[in-house]
Amino acid sequence: MSQSAPRSQDAGVGTVPVELGPRSYDVLIGPGLIGAAGELLHARFGAARCAIVTDRNLETTGHLARLAEALTPGHRLRGAIVLSPGEATKSFGELAGLCQRLLELGVERGDLVIALGGGVIGDLAGFAAAVLRRGVRYVQVPTTLLAQVDSSVGGKTGINTPQGKNLIGAFHQPSLVLADTDALASLPDREMSAGYAEVAKYGLLGDASFFAWLEANAGGVLARDRQALIRAVTRSVEMKAEIVARDETETEERMLLNLGHTFGHALEAWAGFSAKLLHGEAIAIGICLAFRFSEAQRFCPAGTAARVAAHLASVRLPTRISDVPGATGPDAADLIRLMRQDKKVQDGRLTFVLARDIGAAFVSREVNAVDVEGFLAREIARREP
Ligand SMILES: NC(=O)c1ccc[n+]([C@@H]2O[C@H](COP(=O)([O-])OP(=O)(O)OC[C@H]3O[C@@H](n4cnc5c(N)ncnc54)[C@H](O)[C@@H]3O)[C@@H](O)[C@H]2O)c1
Ligand SMILES: [Zn+2]
Repeated sequence: MSQSAPRSQDAGVGTVPVELGPRSYDVLIGPGLIGAAGELLHARFGAARCAIVTDRNLETTGHLARLAEALTPGHRLRGAIVLSPGEATKSFGELAGLCQRLLELGVERGDLVIALGGGVIGDLAGFAAAVLRRGVRYVQVPTTLLAQVDSSVGGKTGINTPQGKNLIGAFHQPSLVLADTDALASLPDREMSAGYAEVAKYGLLGDASFFAWLEANAGGVLARDRQALIRAVTRSVEMKAEIVARDETETEERMLLNLGHTFGHALEAWAGFSAKLLHGEAIAIGICLAFRFSEAQRFCPAGTAARVAAHLASVRLPTRISDVPGATGPDAADLIRLMRQDKKVQDGRLTFVLARDIGAAFVSREVNAVDVEGFLAREIARREP
């Protein structure tokens, strides 16, 4: 995990292969991919017909029309299903309705379901594809930065229940991912920054030189500078692809991708999975907490956590529990309770991703809950930057 230069890209489209034997696929990254989708799908899947699943924001921004137009020649498109935007769409009720509508459109075993949207659409449409007719192929067309660098790659699909997020789902790898960097032009800046937290995560967990590159180029990435964006997305996807190829079903190494997520999920749950705190914002705070905790436990050199927080703050991401909006914040016991409910708990012990340095994360299952609670109580009490 030491190289920081993306394998293949210039001004055009780069390809990152995800090597999973018979389930291998390519992630294409670059401008203009939505408009080229017809030819790209034809080259790979011949005459297969398809159905698009998306949400209303992709309709309003014109991305759906562009994709539908690209797929119209040859009558390849059976139809498009437009759902409500937002996390609430990842539900059993929406899944049932979506499966029925896909069947009504006549989707057959050899067809492709195309998920056009952010992680919500990707997770839901991917899960529908996993169960529809006992499994049909699907193509991810991620349109948020988070979905391009994270949720569209790796085959985790699923929905939420009142018991928690993503507790029902399936591993079902896509057959192709088209990450059109032009689609990010219409993404609200706040969503862009939230997705950036996952980009920074890759540097922090396994590639210090990529993190250093991000420190110098974050402005370009967030301004949608084409070269900077392609490089950031490509390196992120390369790292995810390498880790997923080695540990598809998250028995060990894939857990590294959860850097910042044990703390982050607890904060998200505390905020009620609302617009008060977007996933990536919770992860930014979670990453800072993971580095501060690593420093407090003397795993990682003094000053590392401050460098991480300074970078995330420079892209307008929150870095402290006290940055979560609201009159009263969570207390340490609330957060510990929420962490215990998280699905990463094994035998009642908390699993954490900690760090020995920038670019050197490791999985620890031996973290003492009392130490974490004391640490969180101190974090909640502090207000200074
Ligand atoms: N499967 C995985 O491995 C994985 C990994 C990380 C996150 N996730 C899941 O991803 C979800 C979050 O994904 P997300 O952050 O993409 O959220 P999202 O899908 O809710 O998208 C965020 C918002 O941006 C809008 N949007 C999407 N693309 C747009 C565009 N190009 N222009 C304008 N608006 C656009 C959406 O309509 C939505 O309102 C969560 O449900 C999370 O659990 C899954
Ligand atoms: Zn995440």
